[in-house]
Formats: sequence, structure tokens, C-alpha cells
Amino acid sequence: MNKISTMKLLSVLVTGLVVRATSASQKQVLNAFGELSYGVDVSFPVHHLKFDQDHQPLGDRRKAYEEFMEGCRQYYPDAPDSCDLTEEDRCAMSVRQPASMQNYTDTGFKKVQAPKAVFDLLSNYWETHYDERSQEKWPRGNTYVNHWAAPTYMVNVEETSLRGGGYELKNKIWDGVKPILEEWTGMELEPSSMYGIRQYTNGAILNPHADRNPLISSCIINVAQDVEEDWPLEVYGRDGLAYNVTMKPGDMVLYESHSLIHGRPFPLKGKYFANIFIHFKPTGKLLRERDTPVLTDEGEEHMPIYILRGSPDEKKWLREHPPQKSFRHNVKESPAAAASPLEELSHAAAIGDIDRVSHFVSNHKDLLHKKDSNGWQPIHEAARGGHLDVVKILLENGGDVNERTNFGEGDSLIEIVFDSHGYDHPLFDFLESVGAEL
Ligand SMILES: *[C@@H]1O[C@H](CO)[C@@H](O)[C@H](O)[C@H]1NC(C)=O
Ligand SMILES: *[C@@H]1O[C@H](CO)[C@@H](O)[C@H](O)[C@H]1NC(C)=O
Repeated sequence: MNKISTMKLLSVLVTGLVVRATSASQKQVLNAFGELSYGVDVSFPVHHLKFDQDHQPLGDRRKAYEEFMEGCRQYYPDAPDSCDLTEEDRCAMSVRQPASMQNYTDTGFKKVQAPKAVFDLLSNYWETHYDERSQEKWPRGNTYVNHWAAPTYMVNVEETSLRGGGYELKNKIWDGVKPILEEWTGMELEPSSMYGIRQYTNGAILNPHADRNPLISSCIINVAQDVEEDWPLEVYGRDGLAYNVTMKPGDMVLYESHSLIHGRPFPLKGKYFANIFIHFKPTGKLLRERDTPVLTDEGEEHMPIYILRGSPDEKKWLREHPPQKSFRHNVKESPAAAASPLEELSHAAAIGDIDRVSHFVSNHKDLLHKKDSNGWQPIHEAARGGHLDVVKILLENGGDVNERTNFGEGDSLIEIVFDSHGYDHPLFDFLESVGAEL
């Protein structure tokens, strides 16, 4: 046996993964639970939009995926490409992001029971407002759920028009689950997002993905279900193999949502499945000693501690947060006296100074298309600042809606808004409505 195959064998033994040759062409792979398993690109595309040709324990899944994509394209006849673009983006992120993230646990996922008080709150809210649920809106070309075939609904915990909804409820839920996630990760956590209660309906598929930052240390609680058979959450463990995690109402799956690929690629069989997603990020304070060190300080760059230094996402982050842009941390201060007109306009756009922006655009239209040394235009600053009125003025005066940062290599306006403010920001809807590209 040569050195490489010895090392391969060793790594196989170490990860506890068993590969048994059954015939020359077929291999059986068992995951750590001893289940027959498979890696990425077998149940659904994860790393590549092509399927693994050699290993197909689930039969040929290409047809199912092709139907899924056709459904999306037909639902968005004006922009069928948007479906394919979302898919490319999803796969690229599934390759890049997990490798760039600090993990805080050994396994990446774990099923436990939700605290009774939290589950009672949620199921009560769900039952009380079930008839007031609303259909969830998805951005054009979004492929995360096959909403064209199986619409999703929300009994939104954020909705203050629903009795008991709003911040008080959200805080009780965050407070209720936080100790469990802190115990699991060994890190002090702070809330970063909460989404739900989402109701998936018959035929639903949740496309495998990693969550956007800063959705780091997270949990899913199944609030209610009416199904004919289990609807498994499929995750890819540290060994790269698929695990099905089944859930009953009251179950809570802890997962490192920024690095663990998770999805539900097998269509839901039954009436519905209702979940809430609760997300935290680490503050940097350790709650116990760790075997392997983790970053606890953002450093001078203020780069989040969960981004591995030297990783592809470090580069991405640095591109999006160039050091010259430090006025963002200090937006109240005026720019240096010698600022160029472009710098002044960018600064005004970043802080939402509508009067100054108006003044500039009426006198220096050329500045709208100018880029700073990082390839940012004033409109990117306005998007990042979340200033809808400024973005509108810039567009009315001929600004570019589809120009990316970093001289065309970086993020689109929509991505900037999503990353900084999320889907539910009015700027996101506005950009969608004017046909901004992902
Ligand atoms: C997960 O569940 C699906 C659908 O029931 C099944 O086809 C697949 O083999 C399961 N995968 C694993 C790893 O158990
Ligand atoms: C973190 O976990 C993910 C998923 O389990 C894995 O793919 C990735 O390689 C891990 N990251 C590092 C740096 O080990």
C-alpha cells in the first residue's frame, strides 16, 4: 500500500466512516449512525449543479431536480435566468462558506427537546393565529423553497397586529433557548435573527444551503405537523455524509447554520410542517475552556470572529469592508476637509443625507457612475446604509441599478441590502420591484 492510500485509510478510520466494496463499481457508505449514506450532489445539487454520476443510492434524482428548476423558470417567465443564478450562488456559497467559518461544536448538529415554556408559547401562538396566517413572499427567482409548487405561509412572531406578537414574544423565545445553545457551543451568544413560524405545505422542498451571516448558532423548533411520513431534515456532517434528522412537535435541532449544509430535498408528504428558526451569534466571550482555540476578538478590522482568518470569506469580507470606508463606523463625523466630490457624495449617501445627495446629483451627474478605489459607487453606500430615499434619487438621476461592487466582481445592490438589512427591509422590496438583479 502506498503512502497516500495508507493516509486515506487512516482518515477513513478516524472519521468513523466505513466504505465497503460490494462490487467493483458500487460502494456502500455508512455514516456514523450506521445508516446507508451518501455525500453531496446525490439527493440534490449542493456543491455543483451536476449530480454525482458514480454514486446514486437514491436512484436518479436528476429528474426531480430538473422538474424543480422548470417549475421555477415557468413561474418567473420574465426572468427564468434568475432561478439559475440563485442556484449558482447557492452552490458557490455551499462550497466557500463552510470552509471559511469557525465551528464551535464537534458535530455541527444535535437534536434535543425544546424547553417546555418556549414550546407552549409557540404552539399557543400558532393555534391562536392559524386562521390569520399569510402567504410568504419570496423574491423573484428564489429557489430556497419550491414556493411555485408548494406555497409557504407564516404565522409571524414579529407581527404586532397578531395578539401577543412582537418583540416581547421574540425576546421570551430568544431568552428561553439561549442557555441551551450557549451550553452546546461554549460561547456567550446574542440574538441575531428569528424567523417563523413558517408553514411548509404538501410537496415542499427546502433546497440544501448554509445560512447567511450572522446566522451562526441556531436552532429549529418544530411547532406543529400533519404528515403522512417523516419529513427529514438532511444535513451533511463533518464526515461529508448525509444524515436525516426527523422531528416531532416540540423537538429542537441545534445546528451551526453558517457552516452546516441543511435542507429538505425530499418532498413533504402530508398537509403541512411548521417550524421556527432562531439564530444567535457569538459575542466573543468564552463560557468554558476549549480544546482548540477560537478567536475572541474582532481585531482592528472589526471582522466578525466567526470568519476564519486566511479563508476565502475573509477576502470577501475585506473587499466589502475596505479600510478606507472606516467612516461607516463613525458616520457622524464629517469627512476630512480635503475630501473629493466623490468621497463627499459617497459619505452623504452612506449616512442618508438626502439634501446633500440631491445637491450633488443635480450638479455632478457624472459622479453617480464613478467608483472609488474599491469599485464602490455612491449607490452601494446608500444601499448599505439602508436609505431608500437616497437610492431612489440616485436611480431617478441615472444611477446604476445592476452595477456590482469591486469593479463588477463584488456584490449586487440586492445582496448588499440582504446582507446588511435582510429580506424584510423596504429597500429589498423596492429593488425587486424595479427589477434589480441578484
Ligand atoms: C433520508 O431519507 C430519504 C427519504 O426518506 C431516504 O431516501 C434517504 O436514503 C435517507 N438518507 C439517509 C442518509 O438516511
Ligand atoms: C465546519 O463544519 C462544516 C460542516 O460540518 C465543515 O464542512 C467545515 O469543513 C468545518 N470547517 C472547518 C474549518 O473545519
